[in-house]
Amino acid sequence: MNVAIVLAAGSGSRMRSDIPKQFMLLNGYEVIYYCLNVMQKSNNIDEIILVTKDEDIEYCRKEIVNRYLISKVKEIIPGGKERYNSVYNGLLCAKKRGADIVMIHDAARPLISQRMISDSIEATMSYGASTVAMPVKDTIKIVEENNDGIFGKTTPDRNLLYQIQTPQTFKIDLLIDAYLRLKDSGNYNITDDTMIVEQYTEVPVKIVPGSYENLKITTPEDIFIAENLLKKNIKKTEKNC
Ligand code: C5P
Repeated sequence: MNVAIVLAAGSGSRMRSDIPKQFMLLNGYEVIYYCLNVMQKSNNIDEIILVTKDEDIEYCRKEIVNRYLISKVKEIIPGGKERYNSVYNGLLCAKKRGADIVMIHDAARPLISQRMISDSIEATMSYGASTVAMPVKDTIKIVEENNDGIFGKTTPDRNLLYQIQTPQTFKIDLLIDAYLRLKDSGNYNITDDTMIVEQYTEVPVKIVPGSYENLKITTPEDIFIAENLLKKNIKKTEKNC
């Protein structure tokens, strides 16, 4: 069974808004609605676990899941202080429900597609772990800071650099095992789940092509960009009908 864990327990301080970014409106619909709608229609996702703040559970049930008839959402559970705490709560719940494969996705990425979901599941069935990613477009620098400010130090080879997105998809036992090792190590300097698999297992994470459109709503200008990308995609679908 393939279970999606949708993460919506962040507060999004970079958005400068009282409403968490996953519940802000994009063309009249909440940001989180878009990924749930794609997953609801996917033949590759059997169930969805929604992870949100305690105080937002009832809102999610009434205003998102019931209102938009997202029947694959089987549990709405509380997240934790950091993203990895929210993922771990989702993982325990998915294991209890009998998941074989888990797909972790940021609710703040509304431009996930059916193609990304099916490619990720296929890659994970073959390799155990996968993430959606794209080659970086800009030159990236390692910097160092001294009393005069920030200075460039070295420049990694751009051909070897990818920007990592979600969905990230894993055989569940592999990811739980990696999380248990992370707990033992006590070193929580991590930003996503592929990092945990890299550090605590021998399994290389397969890179699946994502899209430059698959942005994470983070700062106010992302709302404008995402609204226009979503409008363009609707027009494209209408043209193909
Ligand atoms: O803050 P950031 O942009 O990295 O958050 C990525 C995703 O993780 C968002 O969808 C956010 O709601 C979620 N998150 C979470 N629990 C946290 C922090 C972030 O579910 N403690």
